[in-house]
Amino acid sequence: MKIVMLGAPGAGKGTQAKKIAAKYGIPHISTGDIFRANLKAGTELGLKAKEYMDRGALVPDSLTLELIMDRFKEDDCKEGYVLDGFPRTIPQAEALTEALKKINDKLDFAVNVEVPDEAIVNRMSGRRACLQCGGTYHILYNPPKVEGKCDACGGDLILRADDSPETVQHRLEVYHNQTQPLIDYYKEEGIFKEVDGTQDMEKVFEDIVKILAD
Ligand code: AP5
Repeated sequence: MKIVMLGAPGAGKGTQAKKIAAKYGIPHISTGDIFRANLKAGTELGLKAKEYMDRGALVPDSLTLELIMDRFKEDDCKEGYVLDGFPRTIPQAEALTEALKKINDKLDFAVNVEVPDEAIVNRMSGRRACLQCGGTYHILYNPPKVEGKCDACGGDLILRADDSPETVQHRLEVYHNQTQPLIDYYKEEGIFKEVDGTQDMEKVFEDIVKILAD
């Protein structure tokens, strides 16, 4: 199964993508997590990406496409994947469609997690992320068992550099200008589905599982 998660920054794409990956035994591929892991490791890619990420801008398509196409070549992608944060622009979506066409393949679902902008800024200020394993928590809605520590790996939880209210506002503008047009793109492809992301996390997941069973 090949799934693309769509939605504004903080809509809950990563939270749901992790659950989908665990239930269906497919890898969760997050371009944001890959960039952050590169930054932590001090690679050239990570340092280049940081310039854009810290101000809430998109990393150029050329860098992102090279990275994701390499990731698809890994063995664990054979049975499918859930993409989180990619594609994020029409050129990225077109490149993905073309790459899949070349191997006689296509996406199965593009699932949009819909959350209004007003709810996003509030959610992001409470998010805590594990830089070690990419785990995501919320101080109110999904707190870790031990404050400041990741349940999965024990790593320190941080407030991401791009989660300040001003940067989140800019990321929302970038989302509306460059990523939201993907909704129409995938409607035309006939694979677009939507869930109400303002519901409880478990209810959002239930709704996604129903969609994927169709
Ligand atoms: P990325 O890491 O992809 O960030 P994003 O898309 O902005 O999304 P987020 O990870 O911020 O949010 P999410 O929707 O996954 O929400 P989450 O589940 O964490 O990208 C970061 C940057 O990298 C970009 O700005 C760009 O610079 C660069 N980049 C990445 N991919 C790129 C690409 N393809 N091209 C170019 N540049 C790229 O949830 C948010 C919070 O809410 C959490 O605290 C969570 O616990 C909580 N929450 C989740 N669901 C619920 C719920 N139902 N109710 C209450 N709280 C909830």
